[in-house]
Amino acid sequence: MPDPVSRRSALRRLAGAVAVAAAATGPFAAPADARTATGASRRVEDLLARLTLDEKIGLLHGADDPHSLGQAGYVPGVPRLAVPALRLADGPAGVRVTEHATALPAPVLLAAAFDPALAREYGEVIGREGRALGQDVLLSPMVNLIRTPYAGRNYETFSEDPLLSADLVAEEIRGIQSQGLIATVKHFALNNQEQDRMSVDVRIAQQPLRELEFRAFEAAVAAGAGAVMGAYNKVNGTFACENKPILGDVLRGDWGFDGWVMSDWQAAHSTAAALTAGLDMEMPSGDHFADALKQAVRSRSLPEALVDRSARRVLSVMERFGLLDGSAPARPERDPRAGARTALKVAKAGATLLHNRHATLPLTGQVAHHIAVIGPTGAIPFVSGGGSAHVVAAHVRSPLDALRVRAGEDARVSYALGEDIFGKPLPGASPGADFEGRHIAPGATWTYDAPLTVDEPDEWTFYIHYSGDRPKASLDGTELFPPAPGLGESFAGGFVSAAPDGLAVRRRTLDLDAGPHRLRITAKGGDKGQVFRLRRTTGATRAADVAEAVRAARAAASVVLFAYEDATEGADRTGLALPGHQNELIEAVAAANSRTTVVLNTSSSTTMPWLDHTGAVLQMYYPGQEGAEATAAVLFGDCDPGGRLTQTFPASDTLHPVAGDPHRYPGVDGTEEYSEGVHLGYRWYEAEGVAPLFPFGHGLSYTTFEYSGLTVRPDDDGLAVGFTVRNTGSRTGTTVAQVYLGPSPDLSLDQAHRALAGYRRLELEPGRARRVTVRVSTRSLSSWDPARHGWVLGTGTREVTVGVSAREQRLTGRGRVRSHEAAGRP
Ligand code: BGC
Repeated sequence: MPDPVSRRSALRRLAGAVAVAAAATGPFAAPADARTATGASRRVEDLLARLTLDEKIGLLHGADDPHSLGQAGYVPGVPRLAVPALRLADGPAGVRVTEHATALPAPVLLAAAFDPALAREYGEVIGREGRALGQDVLLSPMVNLIRTPYAGRNYETFSEDPLLSADLVAEEIRGIQSQGLIATVKHFALNNQEQDRMSVDVRIAQQPLRELEFRAFEAAVAAGAGAVMGAYNKVNGTFACENKPILGDVLRGDWGFDGWVMSDWQAAHSTAAALTAGLDMEMPSGDHFADALKQAVRSRSLPEALVDRSARRVLSVMERFGLLDGSAPARPERDPRAGARTALKVAKAGATLLHNRHATLPLTGQVAHHIAVIGPTGAIPFVSGGGSAHVVAAHVRSPLDALRVRAGEDARVSYALGEDIFGKPLPGASPGADFEGRHIAPGATWTYDAPLTVDEPDEWTFYIHYSGDRPKASLDGTELFPPAPGLGESFAGGFVSAAPDGLAVRRRTLDLDAGPHRLRITAKGGDKGQVFRLRRTTGATRAADVAEAVRAARAAASVVLFAYEDATEGADRTGLALPGHQNELIEAVAAANSRTTVVLNTSSSTTMPWLDHTGAVLQMYYPGQEGAEATAAVLFGDCDPGGRLTQTFPASDTLHPVAGDPHRYPGVDGTEEYSEGVHLGYRWYEAEGVAPLFPFGHGLSYTTFEYSGLTVRPDDDGLAVGFTVRNTGSRTGTTVAQVYLGPSPDLSLDQAHRALAGYRRLELEPGRARRVTVRVSTRSLSSWDPARHGWVLGTGTREVTVGVSAREQRLTGRGRVRSHEAAGRP
């Protein structure tokens, strides 16, 4: 028989108690004795009573910052009553302002470390920097689950697993807020893709919603997050920012959230519906929450009490962080060295070794003495992703430099580009056809109109690098660089959209016939003057680049080939292959030298048709400002690759949970069905019996581990899973022990065949063993029962396995889960 756990007691036991404790204690807690009937403090109520309607409304929407520091948002405050302004900065991998900040590794790389304590340290760095850089609110962390491998922001979030995401977000928020910076968990909820993110209606049943996407948000609330950001998309028919079931019933009602809800940028769609449902603040301006709100209150179509409710929430968080009475700690100085240390530590800890044949890695002995480094991101470091996740790092070393330093003076480290992503100078055919760094004076207009002669039919890619407004260029009357889709030109883009010297870059590929073509360019100097370059690559230049890379590979004892994939906010990827001609480059290089290691600077999963021909594959994602040092340290074996995949890598574009059904992804007629139910990510592969390229949890070490002695015992609130791990190799190394749970025989609800229920990251010296106990919580043992509107405990005998990935289980046992009543507990 299932054990019904009442909603109230389940929430209290599973999360609520933690929420209250976390929010009410610690350095940024409201004084409990000063509470009033509204739940706010006397100070906040007094302040509210003195604010005019205009002043209250001024707290509920964004405005232009007269002294902007380059951050995303600004709320002016009320100087008359010493309510300070709020500055709100992105983002997930560091503080995004105009000034330099520590560029931490992307959150997906942090997550790969399976280490909540490291997430706390990551949060502390961002918290301190945010305060030092004049910010009050951080628009991060993002915890939307990785559902589709195509989603453009998979690198900005943690995982496809709700438990891991929940643990990490909670600790990161504690870290951020311990420094006095208010954290915003985003995007509530189900912003799991970029395609149609502004409008798509995500249809999802309550059970997967509660068990999967909501779990990390709930943990963020329990950890005391000051703010929640509402998503762009719709959830079950209603825009997230005016969705009462999720904002009112779940967030406020079930989870007891007492901070404020802000909209994503331009995600508010209404005044009355949004405010009533529970949106408190419209960002970044006041299309709906400024004049329209005042009008609605004046005409009595909205009660002023709703304005008070939202203003009270904003002020209460400000009070909790000491922003109302000047008790907030003084803004610290930045500590770039400490930031750099953490950035390096995280990049090493999350480095994920996917494949290592014949001990290609680590690079030691003779093979470390002559290395060919290949690939554009070997020489130009790929630091962080694009969109709002972009951070301006002070100074970053390239992997090539780091490898040269690490290899030492006696070693030879050569370099070949292999794949050109910024183009080669266009050979000048006509007078005035020098397009390399052409300057147009302010106010001037420069035009060029002349033939471009092509010798052989070939595929050409044109590149324009430019400052200011993009010059207009056409070939045979076809516009070469039409306006950018998605977020537009002004949005700080990803890696390939800016040249190393900072000029914006656009590209276009065309098949050209031999003979003369007509090239026309018009460039305008505008107010500040303009610089631009027009470049190209062709089939012939590409073949020459590959040939040079192959020569370098052949001559060297080993090869490190850097491959990239540049995802960004605002668009999904259109395929899982590496972009451009990188697959061919890797095949050619690996054929020339079997000791080829591919280092991936990619956002999410990629397909690897060349896998079996390469020696090793090291997944580094977007590794932050210390990525080069971390990569070199892992390649040379100075540290063990400590990361494990937090998402499944599919074997092909047709074998993954959202393949083949447009209703599931990307949606049809504006609606998308999460019809995989509770089988998201690795759960789907298990349920369908589909073999991935690499499973969730996979990652290799340079040493070997033996697992033994599994015990499963009832614990206070769940199960205690014990086992022994021994390092059986000859080097110190890291393993991530993963405890998976099978379904309950007593529940008729759909359940995962195998779900992560706990984990432990361990570092062990050679020959050392450690006995480990991993606790499986009641929440992990429970399912959401929509009929009862509550959690039910999955009682009975359940399979418990300890594995090193979702597919590789080392130990198998059983645990008996008894209802609390049967166990004699209330
Ligand atoms: C993104 C948010 C971000 C905001 C402010 C939006 O486009 O979706 O994640 O915080 O912009 O930059």
